[in-house]
Amino acid sequence: MAIMNLLFANREVPGIENIAVYEAHGGYQGLRKAVSLDRQAVIDEVKSSGLRGRGGAGFPTWIKWNGLPKNYDKPHYVICNADEGEPGTYKDRELLLKLAHTLVEGMAIAGYATCSTQGYVYIRGEYVEPAWQLRKAIDQAYKAGYLGKNILGIEGFNFDLNIHMGAGSYECGEESALMSSLMGERGNPRLKFPHAPLPTVEGVWKSPTLINNVETYCAATWILANGAEKYSALGTERSKGTKIISVSGHIRRPSNYEVEMGTPLLELIDAAGGVVGGSLKAVIPGGSSVQIVPAEKLAGINLDYESCFANGTLLGSGGFMAFNDRTDIVLLMKRTSEFYAHESCGKCTPCREGTRWLYRILDRITSGGGQEGDIELLLSVCANIDGRSYCGLGDAAAWPIVGAIKAFREEFEYWIKYKKSPVGSHAVPPSPDPVNPLLRLSAVNR
Ligand SMILES: Cc1cc2nc3c(=O)[nH]c(=O)nc-3n(C[C@H](O)[C@H](O)[C@H](O)COP(=O)(O)O)c2cc1C
Ligand code: SF4
Repeated sequence: MAIMNLLFANREVPGIENIAVYEAHGGYQGLRKAVSLDRQAVIDEVKSSGLRGRGGAGFPTWIKWNGLPKNYDKPHYVICNADEGEPGTYKDRELLLKLAHTLVEGMAIAGYATCSTQGYVYIRGEYVEPAWQLRKAIDQAYKAGYLGKNILGIEGFNFDLNIHMGAGSYECGEESALMSSLMGERGNPRLKFPHAPLPTVEGVWKSPTLINNVETYCAATWILANGAEKYSALGTERSKGTKIISVSGHIRRPSNYEVEMGTPLLELIDAAGGVVGGSLKAVIPGGSSVQIVPAEKLAGINLDYESCFANGTLLGSGGFMAFNDRTDIVLLMKRTSEFYAHESCGKCTPCREGTRWLYRILDRITSGGGQEGDIELLLSVCANIDGRSYCGLGDAAAWPIVGAIKAFREEFEYWIKYKKSPVGSHAVPPSPDPVNPLLRLSAVNR
């Protein structure tokens, strides 16, 4: 089952980032197919493919596409989320670098299907080279008549595509914060449905807005070009098609791997050359926000949304990190909590205060100042963040810590009792505060 290259079928073709080579390998056939259908038929094709959003949540793509009003009363917008801030995930980067035309094509298809005339690709600030590749692809697509006015000679099918660079904020990958940032506001999230209208009704500039991940649009291109039936024949009953997994950590061949949904997790490790530097200790399958799974529990897990969920973790964005037995799980969680404390936008109290508390406690433990009751304290802080924060970043900060305590509680206990790492190294000095590096919080708060 393991490797199945659909989106990646042409990734090794020399020059595939240029439009002529892309067209010679079937490029823009998906868009041609789309405009030969009426708009609803395009949405129906996406529906029958079973495609779910690849940005992390796995929401059915067609429901969003179908949710925009079917007229031009107001401008409609198509946005691509290329913020890719989830630690461990780097698939969108490769798609942009090598297959930017597949994204341009997918967004034009979405523009056609949703009566949208403007598209934006929101790219994280660090992705300078991918943004240049996309710039080139967009310019070529305009020249070839795949973007702009009366695309492919279809009267009234107008679609412009713009690039918007972010400034490297993880929170700006959260769709409502992304929209705020795109409009030039501070990158804070907004109220969500049912307390506010859905983006498909009132998104950017209070207009209907579709927002999907890079991989989602690329998959839509493949589906239109090759047919929904072929796509839905792959994968499991509820997780169709393929997923690109970014493999990293203690692994021989870290890279992006496109696998059929439902592929046994351990098969991917084999495909990536196996674990290096020791034996396998644990895997985080879907990016740093999801729960870590110890090696002995990996055998029954498949890479699809349902199987990961049933086994206490998530497929998420596909940021797959493998760890060998020299990994200190508590130090890993300290580094993880530092990231979330740094990236918290500060809008709501549970996340703003809680993420920093998590980091402080973990920093104290790993610098030799752990106290009895610290594990319960960590769990209590997590319980006060999870489900009580304004957006998903708070939950994402709490889940990995709860998961790590559940799976590796003895390592936390060891650190607290012996003031050193259970895997051999000594206590590390307190680290700087993630928000204000001038403070050494654990030293202050011990
Ligand atoms: C804190 C946070 C960060 C996120 N970062 C990203 C991101 O970098 N890229 C992405 O596609 N989705 C990200 N998401 C998910 C988006 O909010 C949204 O669900 C997604 O872009 C929808 O696209 P999809 O339906 O194609 O998955 C993030 C969510 C949260 C809560
Ligand atoms: S959970 Fe709250 S503080 Fe954290 S990023 Fe979201 S809105 Fe900001």
